Amino acid sequence: MNRAQNAPQPAKLIPNLGLKHRNTFGFDTSAELAYEITAPEQIPEVIAEVAEKKLPWRVLGGGSNVILPSTLPGATLLMNIAGQEIISSDEKASYLAVGAGVNWHELVAWTLEKDLPGLENLALIPGTVGAAPIQNIGAYGVEIADYIDSIEAFDAKNHAFVTLQNEACHFAYRDSYFKQNPHRFIVTKVVFKLPKAWQARIHYADLTKQFSGNANPSPEDIFLAVCKVRTHKLPDPKVIGNAGSFFQNPVIPIEQYETLLRAHTNLVSYPDAAGKRKLAAGWLIDQCGFKGQRMGSVGVYEHQALVLVNHGGGTAQDILGLAKCIQEKVHDKFGVSLQIEPNIL
Ligand code: EPU
Repeated sequence: MNRAQNAPQPAKLIPNLGLKHRNTFGFDTSAELAYEITAPEQIPEVIAEVAEKKLPWRVLGGGSNVILPSTLPGATLLMNIAGQEIISSDEKASYLAVGAGVNWHELVAWTLEKDLPGLENLALIPGTVGAAPIQNIGAYGVEIADYIDSIEAFDAKNHAFVTLQNEACHFAYRDSYFKQNPHRFIVTKVVFKLPKAWQARIHYADLTKQFSGNANPSPEDIFLAVCKVRTHKLPDPKVIGNAGSFFQNPVIPIEQYETLLRAHTNLVSYPDAAGKRKLAAGWLIDQCGFKGQRMGSVGVYEHQALVLVNHGGGTAQDILGLAKCIQEKVHDKFGVSLQIEPNIL
């Protein structure tokens, strides 16, 4: 078949597009040149054009992990690539290919409908499938990295499509090869590997509590429990602007942890790889008295101190001002530096 006949239309270009409804903080942002990407084949042309005109560019998925300025100069690629299908299955696992623009939570619900459990602990995380591997989304003891077989992306540096196997993605806590190489890869498709053998993972305190009378929860039970816990603890971005956890949980050397623990016996922490210790940043911020505090149009969420919110009319500058204030206070009190989790564009 003639490939040209099947070539998709070029990406639709929308000048000065308002992005207030495409970023979960609800910041009033305008994209100078917004390109709607509905097929991978549209990407090389857009990237060649921005390179030729020397324009800045960035990719936007669901806008759930970004801090946007009032204007985004140059090109903004809106990733709307749809499609999800089971591509193969053997006695050990099922493989799914999913377009980068698919909504993450809708994918999780779909896998359970198809009787393909595994992703249920990651229910209700906002954002798109293409954005999820970049920061290796995780919740309740599960990370997306555990279920990724491979990723297809456009490599803007070498101007070619690439397929990266799981090991090549260098996944770590809220980190990946894509995050370490910003402005290089545009994820177009994710291939998931969901093993047929399934085991409930309810060892996180919030989930254990939900199942005190049920030793054998089903994947659907866990899905519903995760939705319940998240709805209670985390603000709905449709109601109050936020980007989930605003800081990473800091990982510190064991000696520093032991010193801190002597001074703060109720310190909340978890064991981490390589003999280090991961601290609950929410607890550190809470201890500094920030929970529920407001600073102009922005503030710290009343039920979870790790989440910064836009009460309406706030800007990137406002949220970064509040973040700086929190970082300084936490550093003064605990000697620990907090790293901002969302991408500052
Ligand atoms: N805590 C407080 N005060 C607070 C918040 C938390 O004292 O205001 C303490 C509590 O003792 C709590 C502990 O901190 O038990 C940890 O809090 P939580 O279980 O809510 O989890 P987290 O460490 O704050 C992480 C992820 C979340 C994920 C949850 C559940 C990061 C940066 N965040 O939060 O991910 O949903 O675990 O697994 O790792 C996100 O990345 O956007 C996100 C929401």
